[in-house]
Amino acid sequence: MDTKKLAERLAEAGQSHILQFWDQLSPEEQAEMSLDLKNMNFIEINNFFKNAMKISGQSSQEKVDSRMEPVPREVLGSVTRDSGCLKEWEKEGLRCISENKVAVLLLAGGQGTRLGVPYPKGMYDVGLPSHKTLFQIQAERIRRLEQLAEKLHAKKCCIPWYIMTSGRTMDMTKEFFLQHKYFGLKKENVLFFQQGMLPAMDFNGKIILEGKGKLAMAPDGNGGLYRALGTQKIIDDMKKRGISCIHVYCVDNILVKVADPAFIGFCSLKGADCGAKVVEKTNPTEAVGVVCKVDGRYQVVEYSEITLATAEKRSLDGRLMFNAGNIANHFFTLEFLSEIVRTYEPQLQHHVAQKKIPYVNTQGQLIKPDKPNGIKMEKFVFDIFQFAKKFVVYEVLREDEFSPLKNADSQDGKDNPTTARHSLMSLHHRWILNAGGNFVDENGTHIPAIPRDGPAGTVTPEVSHLKDGTDLPIKCEICPLVSYGGEGLEHLVSGRAFQPNLMIDESGVHELVKNGL
Ligand code: UTP
Repeated sequence: MDTKKLAERLAEAGQSHILQFWDQLSPEEQAEMSLDLKNMNFIEINNFFKNAMKISGQSSQEKVDSRMEPVPREVLGSVTRDSGCLKEWEKEGLRCISENKVAVLLLAGGQGTRLGVPYPKGMYDVGLPSHKTLFQIQAERIRRLEQLAEKLHAKKCCIPWYIMTSGRTMDMTKEFFLQHKYFGLKKENVLFFQQGMLPAMDFNGKIILEGKGKLAMAPDGNGGLYRALGTQKIIDDMKKRGISCIHVYCVDNILVKVADPAFIGFCSLKGADCGAKVVEKTNPTEAVGVVCKVDGRYQVVEYSEITLATAEKRSLDGRLMFNAGNIANHFFTLEFLSEIVRTYEPQLQHHVAQKKIPYVNTQGQLIKPDKPNGIKMEKFVFDIFQFAKKFVVYEVLREDEFSPLKNADSQDGKDNPTTARHSLMSLHHRWILNAGGNFVDENGTHIPAIPRDGPAGTVTPEVSHLKDGTDLPIKCEICPLVSYGGEGLEHLVSGRAFQPNLMIDESGVHELVKNGL
């Protein structure tokens, strides 16, 4: 690219400082930098910055309490309160799957900074007996669901899996799937696409350099999905395949019911174009976003946007009034998504996240700041709720469906590999009990307790202080290829008593010697 032209474009956008080290770069570095800058629209980026800062300034001052209404009962489905409908919803979802109408879309473009590993989060092994990664667990759930739908409807079907990555995670993710032969899925049904990246800016709107020839770039948030769906031609691919609805979810939830047929069936039967799966928020000060209406339109309101008095409000049944805790797990019709991409995406505003962003100073030294020195701009996946014509909410049990992996084990004991592992094994323990199995200790005495996790994924002392250094009373893992949601286990476990080191996979039931897993 012509350097003069580039310099002019940057000057026009007030970003000339980007080239301050140009003369010190090697020809290769100059070529690389030109390539990075070539397709960037600096005027657009400046506008994103201006709008994002304006909106963030407004929302930090103004609470939305007086404009909020809770989710009305008529748009709510609940696995506990409507348990009588579950079979019908599940049947409908499996019918949609059997007709090849359902796709799943994984949001895996995040940087996973809190977990702090140098590879994509989906490749993380939380230390299950099988040492399966999050990607493998999800892939096997998809395979099992295809089998269930095929069996019920006596025809072959497939659930295409769209995986959104970012510039930072794409190559490693693709390579990992290739290495593992797509975990038994067909290669042509696993589709990777890349979300956009945006430069980090300082508080004055200047783009930050992380190297003399390199901008500090970050993915544009999980709501970057909507732009990418258009630019990467994903909507077209879905149309070609005859998809009518899509389940969108995050990579880090170890309990995620990928393409959950009951959720899909519920949304379809309600005629919804957009649905959110939620868990009940029970603690008023839990920092989770809640799904509610603001000025008559659905949105997610963050804990910081409301007063404590509103967060503490209760309904007549004693539950928190604003209790629909968002877990970033959504249903969309393809029609709705197409409309978003075609019409509404440009109206979505970026949110501001203040960060400590390493930068080179004017002397060219790399500085790692100890307090936030700039912002990253992100769109959120739930920003499109406001455009839904028919929005529904589906409430599930946290202990069955939500345990995100956010932090490393060394941190505050919340949402980390240990809590994720415990949640999954605890769920599988309950499946065994529900299917008529039992656990006994080395003396043959029944182990009565069900391992319990504390609120919001924390590990309670009963769980963490267990005998002989093991981290759960019962190590129990069931391969998703054997059971998607607890089904199909009776013939394997009913009436049987197991030692608390149990693994069930396609080859059968294995009681494993202690520590030999
Ligand atoms: P988080 O907001 O928890 O971010 O993402 P993260 O990258 O996993 O972790 P931190 O904040 O850097 O520690 C929630 C979900 O949204 C996806 C993530 O991959 C995760 O599944 N995501 C996030 C994207 O797909 N793209 C993004 O730009 C950001």
